[in-house]
Amino acid sequence: MKVAVVGTGHVGLATCVSLAAVGHDVIGTDADRERVAQLQSRQAPFHEPGLQDLLERVVDEGRLRFLHDAAQAVSGAEIVFVCVGTPARASGEANLAAVEKAGREIARSSTGPAVVVEKSTVPAGTARQLQRTLHHERPDLRGQITVASNPEFLREGKAVEDSMDPSRILVGADDPETFRAMRRLYKPFTEKGCPLVETSIVTAELAKHACNAFLALKISYINALARVAERADADVVEIADVMGLDPRIGRSFLDAGLGYGGYCFPKDIAAFERLSRGLHYEFPLLEEIARINREALDAALSKIRAALWNLEEKRIAVLGLSYKAGTDDVRFSPALDLAVRLMEEGAEVAGYDPKANATAAEDLPVLKIYDDAYEAASGAHCVVIAVEWEEFGNLELDRLKEIMAYPVIVDGRNLLDPGKAKVAGFHYYPMGRPAVEP
Ligand code: UGA
Repeated sequence: MKVAVVGTGHVGLATCVSLAAVGHDVIGTDADRERVAQLQSRQAPFHEPGLQDLLERVVDEGRLRFLHDAAQAVSGAEIVFVCVGTPARASGEANLAAVEKAGREIARSSTGPAVVVEKSTVPAGTARQLQRTLHHERPDLRGQITVASNPEFLREGKAVEDSMDPSRILVGADDPETFRAMRRLYKPFTEKGCPLVETSIVTAELAKHACNAFLALKISYINALARVAERADADVVEIADVMGLDPRIGRSFLDAGLGYGGYCFPKDIAAFERLSRGLHYEFPLLEEIARINREALDAALSKIRAALWNLEEKRIAVLGLSYKAGTDDVRFSPALDLAVRLMEEGAEVAGYDPKANATAAEDLPVLKIYDDAYEAASGAHCVVIAVEWEEFGNLELDRLKEIMAYPVIVDGRNLLDPGKAKVAGFHYYPMGRPAVEP
Protein backbone atom coordinates (compact mmCIF):
# COMPACT_ATOMS: atom_id res chain seq x y z
CA MET A 1 0.00 0.00 0.00
CA LYS A 2 1.08 3.61 -0.42
CA VAL A 3 1.86 5.01 3.02
CA ALA A 4 2.95 8.47 4.18
CA VAL A 5 4.33 9.17 7.65
CA VAL A 6 4.29 12.73 8.97
CA GLY A 7 6.89 13.11 11.72
CA THR A 8 10.05 11.01 11.89
CA GLY A 9 10.78 10.80 15.62
CA HIS A 10 11.13 7.47 17.41
CA VAL A 11 7.58 6.38 16.61
CA GLY A 12 7.42 7.85 13.09
CA LEU A 13 10.73 6.45 11.92
CA ALA A 14 10.06 3.01 13.38
CA THR A 15 6.71 3.08 11.55
CA CYS A 16 8.47 4.02 8.29
CA VAL A 17 11.09 1.28 8.42
CA SER A 18 8.85 -1.50 9.70
CA LEU A 19 6.09 -0.89 7.14
CA ALA A 20 8.66 -0.60 4.35
CA ALA A 21 10.33 -3.80 5.55
CA VAL A 22 7.10 -5.77 5.15
CA GLY A 23 6.65 -4.50 1.59
CA HIS A 24 4.70 -1.24 1.68
CA ASP A 25 5.70 1.79 -0.33
CA VAL A 26 6.51 4.41 2.32
CA ILE A 27 7.35 8.13 2.25
CA GLY A 28 8.42 9.89 5.46
CA THR A 29 8.32 13.65 5.95
CA ASP A 30 9.24 15.99 8.79
CA ALA A 31 9.09 19.74 9.48
CA ASP A 32 12.75 19.52 10.54
CA ARG A 33 14.59 20.00 7.24
CA GLU A 34 17.93 18.94 8.67
CA ARG A 35 16.44 15.65 9.81
CA VAL A 36 14.94 14.95 6.39
CA ALA A 37 18.31 15.68 4.73
CA GLN A 38 20.00 13.31 7.17
CA LEU A 39 17.43 10.59 6.46
CA GLN A 40 17.77 11.13 2.73
CA SER A 41 21.44 10.31 3.14
CA ARG A 42 20.37 7.14 4.99
CA GLN A 43 21.56 8.31 8.41
CA ALA A 44 19.46 7.39 11.47
CA PRO A 45 19.09 10.62 13.49
CA PHE A 46 19.23 8.93 16.92
CA HIS A 47 20.64 5.81 18.50
CA GLU A 48 18.26 2.87 18.25
CA PRO A 49 19.58 -0.69 18.01
CA GLY A 50 19.07 -2.15 14.51
CA LEU A 51 17.63 1.06 13.05
CA GLN A 52 20.60 2.13 10.92
CA ASP A 53 20.86 -1.26 9.19
CA LEU A 54 17.16 -1.59 8.50
CA LEU A 55 16.93 2.01 7.30
CA GLU A 56 19.74 1.44 4.80
CA ARG A 57 18.19 -1.81 3.63
CA VAL A 58 14.68 -0.50 2.94
CA VAL A 59 15.95 2.73 1.36
CA ASP A 60 18.29 0.74 -0.91
CA GLU A 61 15.44 -1.57 -1.85
CA GLY A 62 13.46 1.50 -2.90
CA ARG A 63 10.61 1.00 -0.45
CA LEU A 64 11.28 4.04 1.75
CA ARG A 65 11.94 7.65 0.74
CA PHE A 66 12.01 10.93 2.62
CA LEU A 67 10.67 14.24 1.34
CA HIS A 68 10.81 17.78 2.71
CA ASP A 69 7.53 18.59 1.06
CA ALA A 70 4.70 17.18 3.17
CA ALA A 71 2.15 17.88 0.43
CA GLN A 72 4.07 15.76 -2.03
CA ALA A 73 4.57 13.01 0.54
CA VAL A 74 0.89 12.85 1.36
CA SER A 75 -0.72 13.16 -2.06
CA GLY A 76 -1.63 9.74 -3.38
CA ALA A 77 -1.11 7.99 -0.04
CA GLU A 78 -3.80 5.51 0.98
CA ILE A 79 -2.70 5.61 4.61
CA VAL A 80 -1.23 8.71 6.27
CA PHE A 81 0.28 8.37 9.74
CA VAL A 82 0.40 11.35 12.08
CA CYS A 83 3.48 10.82 14.25
CA VAL A 84 4.24 14.40 15.28
CA GLY A 85 5.26 15.43 18.80
CA THR A 86 2.65 16.12 21.47
CA PRO A 87 4.64 17.91 24.19
CA ALA A 88 3.03 18.78 27.52
CA ARG A 89 1.91 22.33 28.18
CA ALA A 90 2.75 23.82 31.58
CA SER A 91 -0.71 22.72 32.76
CA GLY A 92 0.09 19.06 31.98
CA GLU A 93 -2.34 19.09 29.09
CA ALA A 94 -0.94 17.73 25.80
CA ASN A 95 -0.15 20.40 23.22
CA LEU A 96 -1.84 19.19 20.06
CA ALA A 97 -1.00 22.11 17.80
CA ALA A 98 1.34 19.97 15.70
CA VAL A 99 -1.37 17.31 15.27
CA GLU A 100 -3.85 19.93 14.06
CA LYS A 101 -1.27 21.45 11.70
CA ALA A 102 -0.44 18.02 10.27
CA GLY A 103 -4.19 17.37 9.83
CA ARG A 104 -4.63 20.60 7.85
CA GLU A 105 -1.64 19.87 5.64
CA ILE A 106 -2.80 16.32 4.99
CA ALA A 107 -6.33 17.48 4.10
CA ARG A 108 -5.05 20.09 1.66
CA SER A 109 -2.77 17.66 -0.14
CA SER A 110 -4.71 14.42 0.00
CA THR A 111 -6.14 13.13 -3.20
CA GLY A 112 -8.38 10.70 -1.26
CA PRO A 113 -9.50 8.10 -0.50
CA ALA A 114 -7.20 7.92 2.51
CA VAL A 115 -7.14 6.90 6.14
CA VAL A 116 -5.47 9.42 8.43
CA VAL A 117 -4.02 7.43 11.30
CA GLU A 118 -3.31 9.04 14.62
CA LYS A 119 -0.26 7.33 16.10
CA SER A 120 1.13 10.09 18.30
CA THR A 121 0.05 9.56 21.91
CA VAL A 122 -2.89 11.88 22.30
CA PRO A 123 -5.68 12.40 24.81
CA ALA A 124 -8.94 10.60 24.11
CA GLY A 125 -11.11 12.74 21.87
CA THR A 126 -8.28 13.96 19.63
CA ALA A 127 -9.37 11.87 16.65
CA ARG A 128 -12.77 13.61 16.65
CA GLN A 129 -11.04 16.98 16.46
CA LEU A 130 -8.75 15.70 13.74
CA GLN A 131 -11.74 14.45 11.79
CA ARG A 132 -13.42 17.84 12.10
CA THR A 133 -10.27 19.62 10.90
CA LEU A 134 -10.06 17.33 7.86
CA HIS A 135 -13.69 17.98 7.01
CA HIS A 136 -13.39 21.75 7.48
CA GLU A 137 -10.41 21.84 5.15
CA ARG A 138 -11.78 19.47 2.52
CA PRO A 139 -15.58 19.24 2.59
CA ASP A 140 -15.30 17.74 -0.91
CA LEU A 141 -13.51 14.68 0.50
CA ARG A 142 -16.04 13.99 3.27
CA GLY A 143 -16.41 10.25 3.58
CA GLN A 144 -13.25 9.74 1.56
CA ILE A 145 -10.77 10.77 4.23
CA THR A 146 -11.46 8.89 7.42
CA VAL A 147 -9.62 8.77 10.74
CA ALA A 148 -8.23 5.85 12.70
CA SER A 149 -6.45 5.67 16.03
CA ASN A 150 -3.54 3.24 16.04
CA PRO A 151 -1.59 3.81 19.26
CA GLU A 152 2.02 2.72 19.34
CA PHE A 153 3.33 0.48 22.11
CA LEU A 154 7.02 0.37 21.16
CA ARG A 155 9.79 1.04 23.63
CA GLU A 156 12.78 3.21 22.84
CA GLY A 157 15.91 1.12 22.69
CA LYS A 158 13.76 -1.73 21.33
CA ALA A 159 11.85 0.29 18.73
CA VAL A 160 12.86 -1.82 15.74
CA GLU A 161 12.26 -5.11 17.54
CA ASP A 162 8.88 -3.92 18.87
CA SER A 163 7.69 -2.52 15.56
CA MET A 164 8.74 -5.58 13.56
CA ASP A 165 7.28 -7.97 16.11
CA PRO A 166 4.59 -6.11 18.06
CA SER A 167 2.78 -7.69 21.03
CA ARG A 168 -0.51 -6.41 19.57
CA ILE A 169 -1.85 -3.94 17.05
CA LEU A 170 -4.69 -1.73 18.19
CA VAL A 171 -6.94 -0.02 15.67
CA GLY A 172 -9.77 2.29 16.63
CA ALA A 173 -12.10 3.35 13.85
CA ASP A 174 -15.71 4.18 13.12
CA ASP A 175 -16.49 2.49 9.81
CA PRO A 176 -15.90 -0.86 8.09
CA GLU A 177 -13.95 0.66 5.18
CA THR A 178 -11.31 2.09 7.53
CA PHE A 179 -10.98 -1.21 9.40
CA ARG A 180 -10.58 -2.99 6.07
CA ALA A 181 -7.77 -0.67 4.98
CA MET A 182 -5.98 -1.06 8.32
CA ARG A 183 -6.34 -4.86 8.20
CA ARG A 184 -4.76 -4.82 4.75
CA LEU A 185 -1.92 -2.62 5.98
CA TYR A 186 -1.12 -4.88 8.90
CA LYS A 187 -1.72 -8.20 7.13
CA PRO A 188 2.01 -9.09 7.05
CA PHE A 189 2.00 -8.87 10.86
CA THR A 190 -1.34 -10.56 11.58
CA GLU A 191 -0.40 -13.40 9.23
CA LYS A 192 2.53 -14.11 11.54
CA GLY A 193 0.15 -14.34 14.49
CA CYS A 194 0.17 -10.81 15.90
CA PRO A 195 -3.26 -10.01 17.37
CA LEU A 196 -5.10 -7.05 15.87
CA VAL A 197 -7.66 -5.56 18.23
CA GLU A 198 -10.42 -3.42 16.77
CA THR A 199 -12.27 -0.91 18.94
CA SER A 200 -13.95 2.46 18.73
CA ILE A 201 -11.58 5.38 18.26
CA VAL A 202 -11.97 6.74 21.77
CA THR A 203 -11.46 3.28 23.32
CA ALA A 204 -8.18 2.90 21.43
CA GLU A 205 -7.01 6.32 22.60
CA LEU A 206 -7.90 5.55 26.20
CA ALA A 207 -6.32 2.08 26.04
CA LYS A 208 -2.96 3.66 25.25
CA HIS A 209 -3.18 5.88 28.33
CA ALA A 210 -4.30 2.89 30.38
CA CYS A 211 -1.24 0.84 29.37
CA ASN A 212 1.35 3.53 30.05
CA ALA A 213 -0.23 4.55 33.35
CA PHE A 214 -0.36 0.94 34.50
CA LEU A 215 3.31 0.37 33.66
CA ALA A 216 4.22 3.56 35.52
CA LEU A 217 2.06 2.35 38.42
CA LYS A 218 4.11 -0.84 38.63
CA ILE A 219 7.32 1.19 38.77
CA SER A 220 5.98 3.52 41.45
CA TYR A 221 4.62 0.59 43.42
CA ILE A 222 8.05 -1.02 43.57
CA ASN A 223 9.73 2.30 44.34
CA ALA A 224 7.35 2.92 47.27
CA LEU A 225 8.07 -0.63 48.39
CA ALA A 226 11.79 0.16 48.14
CA ARG A 227 11.30 2.96 50.71
CA VAL A 228 9.55 0.51 53.06
CA ALA A 229 12.21 -2.15 52.46
CA GLU A 230 14.97 0.34 53.29
CA ARG A 231 13.32 1.15 56.60
CA ALA A 232 12.69 -2.54 57.38
CA ASP A 233 16.14 -3.71 56.27
CA ALA A 234 14.54 -5.95 53.64
CA ASP A 235 15.57 -6.45 50.01
CA VAL A 236 13.21 -5.05 47.36
CA VAL A 237 14.89 -6.98 44.54
CA GLU A 238 14.13 -10.26 46.27
CA ILE A 239 10.59 -9.07 46.93
CA ALA A 240 10.17 -8.20 43.23
CA ASP A 241 11.46 -11.67 42.29
CA VAL A 242 8.88 -13.27 44.55
CA MET A 243 6.12 -11.07 43.15
CA GLY A 244 7.26 -11.81 39.62
CA LEU A 245 6.81 -15.54 40.07
CA ASP A 246 3.07 -14.92 40.29
CA PRO A 247 1.98 -14.89 36.64
CA ARG A 248 -0.84 -12.52 37.55
CA ILE A 249 1.76 -9.92 38.54
CA GLY A 250 4.82 -10.61 36.35
CA ARG A 251 8.40 -9.55 37.06
CA SER A 252 8.77 -6.82 34.42
CA PHE A 253 8.53 -3.15 35.39
CA LEU A 254 9.28 -4.01 39.01
CA ASP A 255 12.84 -2.66 39.02
CA ALA A 256 13.22 -0.09 41.77
CA GLY A 257 15.60 2.79 41.12
CA LEU A 258 15.64 6.47 40.29
CA GLY A 259 12.15 6.24 38.80
CA TYR A 260 10.80 6.52 35.30
CA GLY A 261 11.67 9.23 32.82
CA GLY A 262 11.54 9.69 29.06
CA TYR A 263 9.21 11.45 26.72
CA CYS A 264 6.27 9.12 27.36
CA PHE A 265 5.47 8.25 30.97
CA PRO A 266 5.88 11.64 32.72
CA LYS A 267 3.86 13.56 30.15
CA ASP A 268 1.33 10.79 29.55
CA ILE A 269 0.49 10.46 33.23
CA ALA A 270 0.02 14.23 33.47
CA ALA A 271 -2.14 14.27 30.33
CA PHE A 272 -4.21 11.30 31.52
CA GLU A 273 -4.86 12.95 34.86
CA ARG A 274 -5.88 16.13 33.13
CA LEU A 275 -8.12 14.22 30.74
CA SER A 276 -9.82 12.35 33.53
CA ARG A 277 -10.43 15.57 35.46
CA GLY A 278 -11.90 17.06 32.28
CA LEU A 279 -14.30 14.11 32.24
CA HIS A 280 -15.26 14.97 35.87
CA TYR A 281 -13.53 11.96 37.35
CA GLU A 282 -10.81 12.67 39.91
CA PHE A 283 -8.11 10.00 39.54
CA PRO A 284 -5.71 10.80 42.41
CA LEU A 285 -3.87 7.51 41.88
CA LEU A 286 -2.26 9.09 38.83
CA GLU A 287 -0.85 12.02 40.82
CA GLU A 288 0.37 9.55 43.44
CA ILE A 289 2.27 7.61 40.77
CA ALA A 290 4.04 10.84 39.79
CA ARG A 291 4.68 11.81 43.44
CA ILE A 292 6.30 8.47 44.27
CA ASN A 293 8.38 8.84 41.13
CA ARG A 294 9.73 12.20 42.35
CA GLU A 295 10.34 10.64 45.77
CA ALA A 296 12.58 7.96 44.19
CA LEU A 297 14.99 10.63 43.00
CA ASP A 298 14.84 12.36 46.40
CA ALA A 299 15.73 9.03 48.02
CA ALA A 300 18.85 8.70 45.86
CA LEU A 301 19.86 12.25 46.72
CA SER A 302 19.44 11.54 50.44
CA LYS A 303 21.70 8.49 50.11
CA ILE A 304 24.39 10.59 48.43
CA ARG A 305 24.11 13.30 51.09
CA ALA A 306 24.22 10.72 53.88
CA ALA A 307 27.31 9.09 52.38
CA LEU A 308 29.23 12.29 51.64
CA TRP A 309 27.93 14.70 54.29
CA ASN A 310 28.31 18.13 52.59
CA LEU A 311 28.25 18.12 48.83
CA GLU A 312 30.28 21.30 48.38
CA GLU A 313 33.73 20.51 47.00
CA LYS A 314 32.79 16.89 46.40
CA ARG A 315 33.18 15.33 42.98
CA ILE A 316 30.38 12.98 42.00
CA ALA A 317 30.48 10.82 38.89
CA VAL A 318 27.06 10.21 37.37
CA LEU A 319 27.30 7.12 35.17
CA GLY A 320 24.51 7.08 32.61
CA LEU A 321 22.76 10.22 31.36
CA SER A 322 19.97 8.88 29.12
CA TYR A 323 16.53 8.18 30.58
CA LYS A 324 17.17 4.45 30.32
CA ALA A 325 19.63 2.00 28.76
CA GLY A 326 19.57 1.40 25.01
CA THR A 327 18.84 4.97 23.93
CA ASP A 328 20.62 8.31 23.56
CA ASP A 329 17.38 10.10 24.49
CA VAL A 330 17.82 12.36 27.52
CA ARG A 331 14.33 13.88 27.60
CA PHE A 332 13.01 13.83 31.20
CA SER A 333 16.04 11.78 32.19
CA PRO A 334 16.17 11.06 35.94
CA ALA A 335 19.98 10.90 35.59
CA LEU A 336 20.16 14.47 34.31
CA ASP A 337 17.66 15.66 36.95
CA LEU A 338 19.91 14.16 39.58
CA ALA A 339 23.01 15.78 38.06
CA VAL A 340 21.28 19.18 38.14
CA ARG A 341 20.24 18.78 41.76
CA LEU A 342 23.74 17.69 42.80
CA MET A 343 25.23 20.73 41.06
CA GLU A 344 22.66 22.99 42.74
CA GLU A 345 23.90 21.67 46.07
CA GLY A 346 27.48 22.61 45.19
CA ALA A 347 28.91 19.30 43.98
CA GLU A 348 31.16 19.02 40.97
CA VAL A 349 29.42 16.50 38.70
CA ALA A 350 31.24 14.38 36.12
CA GLY A 351 28.93 12.66 33.67
CA TYR A 352 29.43 9.82 31.26
CA ASP A 353 27.08 7.82 29.05
CA PRO A 354 27.96 5.18 26.46
CA LYS A 355 25.54 6.66 23.90
CA ALA A 356 24.03 9.87 25.24
CA ASN A 357 27.08 12.11 25.82
CA ALA A 358 26.25 14.32 22.84
CA THR A 359 22.53 14.67 23.57
CA ALA A 360 23.26 15.32 27.25
CA ALA A 361 25.81 18.02 26.35
CA GLU A 362 23.17 19.70 24.23
CA ASP A 363 20.52 19.47 26.94
CA LEU A 364 22.74 20.43 29.87
CA PRO A 365 25.80 22.32 28.59
CA VAL A 366 27.08 23.10 32.11
CA LEU A 367 27.61 19.42 32.84
CA LYS A 368 31.19 18.16 32.56
CA ILE A 369 31.09 15.09 30.36
CA TYR A 370 33.78 12.47 29.94
CA ASP A 371 34.51 9.86 27.27
CA ASP A 372 34.84 6.97 29.64
CA ALA A 373 33.40 5.79 32.98
CA TYR A 374 36.81 5.63 34.66
CA GLU A 375 37.72 9.15 33.55
CA ALA A 376 34.49 10.43 35.05
CA ALA A 377 35.12 8.47 38.25
CA SER A 378 38.71 9.61 38.60
CA GLY A 379 39.08 11.60 41.83
CA ALA A 380 35.35 11.20 42.58
CA HIS A 381 34.04 10.99 46.13
CA CYS A 382 31.08 9.02 44.92
CA VAL A 383 29.98 7.14 41.80
CA VAL A 384 26.25 7.11 41.08
CA ILE A 385 24.99 4.47 38.67
CA ALA A 386 22.06 6.30 37.12
CA VAL A 387 21.28 4.11 34.09
CA GLU A 388 21.35 0.32 33.79
CA TRP A 389 23.80 0.20 30.85
CA GLU A 390 25.40 -3.23 30.68
CA GLU A 391 28.94 -1.82 30.75
CA PHE A 392 28.34 -0.37 34.23
CA GLY A 393 27.49 -3.84 35.48
CA ASN A 394 30.92 -4.95 34.27
CA LEU A 395 32.94 -2.14 35.87
CA GLU A 396 36.28 -3.30 37.27
CA LEU A 397 35.64 -2.46 40.89
CA ASP A 398 39.29 -2.74 42.00
CA ARG A 399 40.35 -0.27 39.33
CA LEU A 400 37.47 2.02 40.22
CA LYS A 401 38.42 2.03 43.89
CA GLU A 402 42.01 2.90 43.08
CA ILE A 403 41.13 5.99 41.07
CA MET A 404 38.35 7.33 43.29
CA ALA A 405 38.89 9.74 46.21
CA TYR A 406 36.39 7.86 48.43
CA PRO A 407 35.18 4.28 47.82
CA VAL A 408 31.46 5.14 47.67
CA ILE A 409 28.90 3.86 45.15
CA VAL A 410 25.22 4.80 45.08
CA ASP A 411 23.63 2.26 42.77
CA GLY A 412 20.53 4.02 41.47
CA ARG A 413 19.56 1.00 39.34
CA ASN A 414 20.57 -1.94 41.58
CA LEU A 415 22.93 -3.07 38.87
CA LEU A 416 25.91 -4.30 40.86
CA ASP A 417 26.25 -7.43 42.95
CA PRO A 418 26.38 -6.17 46.56
CA GLY A 419 28.72 -9.04 47.52
CA LYS A 420 31.27 -7.98 44.89
CA ALA A 421 31.05 -4.36 46.00
CA LYS A 422 31.79 -5.46 49.56
CA VAL A 423 34.76 -7.62 48.54
CA ALA A 424 36.15 -4.69 46.52
CA GLY A 425 35.95 -2.55 49.67
CA PHE A 426 33.17 -0.17 48.71
CA HIS A 427 30.55 1.58 50.79
CA TYR A 428 27.69 0.52 48.58
CA TYR A 429 24.20 2.05 48.69
CA PRO A 430 21.59 0.41 46.45
CA MET A 431 17.88 1.31 46.16
CA GLY A 432 15.59 -0.61 48.49
CA ARG A 433 18.25 -3.11 49.49
CA PRO A 434 20.47 -3.21 52.56
CA ALA A 435 23.55 -1.00 52.29
CA VAL A 436 26.94 -2.70 52.30
CA GLU A 437 29.88 -1.40 54.31
CA PRO A 438 33.39 -2.80 53.77
C1 UGA B 1 7.04 3.34 27.19
C2 UGA B 1 6.21 2.06 27.11
O1 UGA B 1 6.92 0.96 27.70
C3 UGA B 1 5.87 1.72 25.66
O2 UGA B 1 5.03 0.59 25.60
C4 UGA B 1 5.17 2.91 25.01
O3 UGA B 1 4.92 2.68 23.64
C5 UGA B 1 6.06 4.15 25.13
O4 UGA B 1 6.34 4.40 26.53
C6 UGA B 1 5.32 5.31 24.54
O5 UGA B 1 4.27 5.70 25.05
O6 UGA B 1 5.72 5.81 23.48
P1 UGA B 1 9.64 3.90 26.82
O7 UGA B 1 9.33 5.25 27.37
O8 UGA B 1 10.43 3.78 25.57
O9 UGA B 1 8.28 3.08 26.54
O10 UGA B 1 10.49 3.14 27.91
P2 UGA B 1 10.23 2.04 29.05
O11 UGA B 1 11.06 0.88 28.76
O12 UGA B 1 8.78 1.81 29.27
O13 UGA B 1 10.82 2.79 30.32
C7 UGA B 1 10.27 4.01 30.81
C8 UGA B 1 11.00 4.46 32.05
O14 UGA B 1 10.71 3.59 33.14
C9 UGA B 1 12.52 4.49 31.92
O15 UGA B 1 13.01 5.67 32.53
C10 UGA B 1 12.97 3.26 32.70
O16 UGA B 1 14.26 3.38 33.24
C11 UGA B 1 11.91 3.21 33.79
N1 UGA B 1 11.72 1.86 34.38
C12 UGA B 1 11.26 0.85 33.62
C13 UGA B 1 11.99 1.67 35.73
O17 UGA B 1 12.40 2.60 36.45
N2 UGA B 1 11.77 0.43 36.27
C14 UGA B 1 11.31 -0.60 35.55
O18 UGA B 1 11.13 -1.70 36.11
C15 UGA B 1 11.05 -0.40 34.18
